[in-house]
Amino acid sequence: MNTEIVELNEQNIDIEKLKRAAKIIVNLGTVVLPTETVYGLGANALSSMAVKKIFLAKGRPVDNPLIVHVCSIEMMGDLLQDPLDLRAKKLIEAFWPGPLTLVFKRSDKVPLEVCANLDTVAIRMPDHPIALKLIELANVPIAAPSANVSGKPSPTMAQHVIQDMDGRVDMIISADRSRIGVESTVLDISLPVALILRPGGVTLEQLQKVLGKEGVSLDNMINDVVDKPRSPGMKYTHYAPNATLQIVRGDKENIISYIKGKIYESVSGFIGVLCSDETKSEYQGAHVISIGSVHRLEQGASNLFAVLREFDQIGVDVIYAEAFGEDEMGLALMNRLKKAAGFNIVDV
Ligand code: TXA
Ligand code: MG
Repeated sequence: MNTEIVELNEQNIDIEKLKRAAKIIVNLGTVVLPTETVYGLGANALSSMAVKKIFLAKGRPVDNPLIVHVCSIEMMGDLLQDPLDLRAKKLIEAFWPGPLTLVFKRSDKVPLEVCANLDTVAIRMPDHPIALKLIELANVPIAAPSANVSGKPSPTMAQHVIQDMDGRVDMIISADRSRIGVESTVLDISLPVALILRPGGVTLEQLQKVLGKEGVSLDNMINDVVDKPRSPGMKYTHYAPNATLQIVRGDKENIISYIKGKIYESVSGFIGVLCSDETKSEYQGAHVISIGSVHRLEQGASNLFAVLREFDQIGVDVIYAEAFGEDEMGLALMNRLKKAAGFNIVDV
């Protein structure tokens, strides 16, 4: 398949180019689009045929449902079983457009491929001028998972998308690096107490401010390897780099001496260390990449996927990753890191 790569500048969008992208969506093709979280692989969410192309391009298991992206509240109307309640309205008011995906009871209009046969649908309004304008021009909701090959780190830069999707989609819109850099928070509000199925760009603490402490809980499966997850996406391997990745958790001094010991013992010398600015000078003799300061974990979360891809390019055999705190954006960061490691964690 021939993939057209189109460069767009979000400050000064070339509408003619974007109209071509919208036409592809209307004609049931696939377009990779930038969003504020990660790049998405989009198709017309109302067409089974279009949506099937997404699964094919990604190599995605068909029982993992997709997020539907809208540019207005009106656009959701047809997709929902019930009118928006007060809780949904409050969340939308506080966080849309933005990195919060809401799971609602769905109507019959949602193709089964989009919701993987569940009785719910996941919807969000992205905070990105190109994504919003594309949805508006196509005038249909756009289903879009992250635009990586299934199992690989989500793409936060156009070059990641081109690596993974050139030849697999009709068009790639190449734009700036994703501002948030980690996917949206998935919040199930089809339940009496809202449940976080995936931590992401909107934090637990931010949700608690709107819903109250009792009004939101964290799915306890988020931190486990599970057989029967509520969100189908939880059970698959995710974000995995080619190298074996181990997370080292404990006091700072213990973490440093454990990893230094591993570097010292290594024969190959192809060891990667994923750490912070505060510790990066400790690890002589390894390929060291810092995700940034531990005091700015939102930046760390934003850098993580690119760093995992960088280790693939260097070609290390093993990566030791320092564990980070799990407050605020640290929760999403550690969730992605644990998944990337296949929950391979050593406590020191
Ligand atoms: O930031 C994002 O959310 C990005 C950008 C492109 O919008 N998209 C994204 O999509 O991360 P994807 O497909 O990589 O992840 C969607 C997640 C999966 O974990 C999936 O299982 C869950 O949302 N999900 C989708 N529909 C659901 C539903 N009806 N019930 C529960 N979980 C659902
Ligand atoms: Mg994904």
